[in-house]
Amino acid sequence: MCGIVGYLGKKNTKEILLEGLKELEYRGYDSAGIAILSDNNFSSFKAVGKLVNLEDKTKDFVTDKFAVGIGHTRWATHGKPTELNAHPHVGSSSYVVHNGIIENYAELKKELQEKGVHFLSQTDTEVIVHLFEEKLKKSADAFEAFKETISELEGAYAILLVTKGEDERIFFAKNGSPMLVGINTENEKYFASSDTPLIGHCSDVNYFEDGDYGYVTPEKIVIFDKNDTQREPIFTKLSTNKLSAQKDGYRFFMEKEIYEQSDVIVDTLLGRLSENEIILDEIDSSLFDGINEIKLCACGTSYHSALTASYMFERYSKVKTSVEVASEFRYREPIMTKDTLFVVISQSGETADTLETLKMAKNAGLKTLVICNVDNSSMVRIADASILTRAGIEKGVASTKAFATQVVVFWMLSLYVAKLRNTLDAQEIAKQIALLREVPRSVKVEDSMHERIKRLSKRYLHGHGFFFIGRDLFYPLALEGALKLKEISYLHAEGYPSGEMKHGPIALADPELFTIALLPEHLLYEKSKSNVEELSARDATICAISPLVFDKADDYIQTQPQSHYMLEFFEMMVVVQILSLEISVRLGNDVDMPRNLAKSVTVE
Ligand code: F6R
Repeated sequence: MCGIVGYLGKKNTKEILLEGLKELEYRGYDSAGIAILSDNNFSSFKAVGKLVNLEDKTKDFVTDKFAVGIGHTRWATHGKPTELNAHPHVGSSSYVVHNGIIENYAELKKELQEKGVHFLSQTDTEVIVHLFEEKLKKSADAFEAFKETISELEGAYAILLVTKGEDERIFFAKNGSPMLVGINTENEKYFASSDTPLIGHCSDVNYFEDGDYGYVTPEKIVIFDKNDTQREPIFTKLSTNKLSAQKDGYRFFMEKEIYEQSDVIVDTLLGRLSENEIILDEIDSSLFDGINEIKLCACGTSYHSALTASYMFERYSKVKTSVEVASEFRYREPIMTKDTLFVVISQSGETADTLETLKMAKNAGLKTLVICNVDNSSMVRIADASILTRAGIEKGVASTKAFATQVVVFWMLSLYVAKLRNTLDAQEIAKQIALLREVPRSVKVEDSMHERIKRLSKRYLHGHGFFFIGRDLFYPLALEGALKLKEISYLHAEGYPSGEMKHGPIALADPELFTIALLPEHLLYEKSKSNVEELSARDATICAISPLVFDKADDYIQTQPQSHYMLEFFEMMVVVQILSLEISVRLGNDVDMPRNLAKSVTVE
């Protein structure tokens, strides 16, 4: 994901910007750049790929006097990862860096082009700098021009802008994308999109609120809020511990990643939805020519997202779909026919078993696709086509946001195929696209919900086992809930289809058997409810997760009413993730690095 840094002061501006960008590297990016204004002269450098390429380009460039500078790591959304599309973007005498998305950029760009403005890049960001310069032509005051520019932008942004003639000012604006400014006793100002680049440089920081805009000079920080009222900065002490800073105030990376799901899903969807179709630039529709079956293959959590996908491919795209555990598939001499699209799913793109199945499919002449979170990983390099999930780096060993984004990609892909094959009408596709836009909202963690789960978790620290149960798509979610719990709590947990309990496992039912029942309102509610009632009648302890009150349960986590079962799916996903997290915390376990587990399993 993109990262922003900015600096105003007398130290080595180039080094400070490059070091800051290094601290943001973990977020993932594909190009980077800096622009520095000193003595009313701009120097700007951009490079595709890793930061070493930018370091290389700037190695003979020296900054040893007062300067203002901005820097950016870009993770391509609008336009490919090229040097022209890398930030900072330039006008005639100003540079801008931006995180987020300017939703009305197409209209703004058109208006600017009609006025004769020439655009160099394919990005949404470039409109900001040109719009600013247009305003500046009519205004003597650069801040007034900046303010007018911001007022015309719609969407999410964190912006830094520097302009000639104002070589002691950095202009900023924030709405929806994080940004902060830090100070120290040397009258320096540091900006960044998260606090790690500031550690060691600043004592105090101000986190901008949505709607804030203003500028900094060596002497002051001028902030206006969303109502255009000037306000004082609100400083907090900056942590001196880098690791805890990377956790952005959360106790664990896993917790941060659960809370981050809403934002990363926005990234997953970015540029891929129009009103009535799914846009997947990275694949060609010919990938599906001659395909009669989709085979999905993965391990662990990724296997669960594949199982979820199988329901969507058959229901929406009407393509026969099978799902395989990679370690099994490898050795069972499977029959592979060329009318099968072979899809591997992997957060890391390096899991040995999954990688091997991909090679097998390729050798058998099948078309292959990978759904992956890591660009340039082995699987992405080998597969014929890839779709990136854009979850950003996942540090917690127990996967959360990677799963969420995989399911979102599969939902989009199933609609993409549905449109290709005419298996859903245009109205239904448009309706589901509108629902996809609601996913970020459905995974937002409400404080009250988290608090409720935290309180409830104390009742689930013992017992002889957990059953997570669900039907249809909620069965793979039950599997995923059980996997999360066992990974970090070390308690025995199984995921089971609700309707299957009576065929054996119900024998285990007693008060010490904990059943976590997924009861969505919009998918087989009555049937799932009967299955839970059967368990309740045998005195199993039931924790129901549902928007509908369920009086046969011992505990009840009430979810929000949603308009569609897919939104219920995403909300319940968050509930089971937090439940596992809180049980693990109470048991005193290492949430981020559970015993015996590794993040990337590169052995078979
Ligand atoms: C569970 C988890 C693992 C991985 C599995 C596959 O929380 O993270 O089950 O899902 O090891 O890893 P990837 O997706 O990287 O292939």
